Amino acid sequence: MLILGAKGHAKEVFDLLDPSECNNLCFFDNVSEPRPVELFGYPVLNSLEALKQHFQNQANFIVGIGDCILRYKLQQLAEAHGGKATSLVAKSAHLSNSALLGEGVSLMAFSLVSAHVSLGKGVLINANAAIHHDCQLGNFVEIGPGAKLLGQVNVGDFTFIGANATILPKLSIGSNVVIAAGAMVTQDVPDNCMVAGNPAQLKKQRTPLVL
Ligand SMILES: CC(C)(COP(=O)(O)OP(=O)(O)OC[C@H]1O[C@@H](n2cnc3c(N)ncnc32)[C@H](O)[C@@H]1OP(=O)(O)O)[C@@H](O)C(=O)NCCC(=O)NCCS
Repeated sequence: MLILGAKGHAKEVFDLLDPSECNNLCFFDNVSEPRPVELFGYPVLNSLEALKQHFQNQANFIVGIGDCILRYKLQQLAEAHGGKATSLVAKSAHLSNSALLGEGVSLMAFSLVSAHVSLGKGVLINANAAIHHDCQLGNFVEIGPGAKLLGQVNVGDFTFIGANATILPKLSIGSNVVIAAGAMVTQDVPDNCMVAGNPAQLKKQRTPLVL
């Protein structure tokens, strides 16, 4: 197994792995300075050549980065070098049998993914977050620790929902949206904006993504 990243979120991912998944474990980080060489006693690869060689023997990876856009870019990079995105489901997470998960989803400690929820590729549900019944999340959505999406909420691609935010039932949250930590969202939120507060108010427009 390889964990993409060697900073904070990568450490949390490592903590959730079973010892049986740690044979030949390594991390990948080719941007941090100074370059880390090991983490928890496992090597940190820091070149694309080393990444490609590693994937020739063992293709599975988990994205160990929180930020939606970086998750997407790193997943693309790893796949282009022969990697295969693997989902992570913490033992303490509750995952409904009727939920549908895209490739490379991470469900962190004590998260809830309830009945008939659908999660796109690369979605990250952080610790203690709850995604209640019939929610649909697009690709590379990041849900912060303790955030709550009540039933039948739709969320567009590359949206970030901050820690402890609450989204009331049946709302639509657009793509490339930022919902600030602690927000109470009571109305639909359009694409490309940032909202905050209780009740959440529009604070900023965001530049549309070009990926
Ligand atoms: C929203 C956030 C990303 C900041 O975004 P930003 O574009 O840099 O926003 P700014 O700091 O410029 O703030 C813009 C406005 O929103 C307000 N705001 C920002 N965060 C807020 C929050 N959490 N609650 C209430 N208001 C908030 C600011 O006071 C400011 O208000 P004003 O324009 O009326 O003065 C950050 O505040 C936040 O909430 N991050 C979430 C962190 C988190 O949950 N991380 C989880 C990682 S696992």
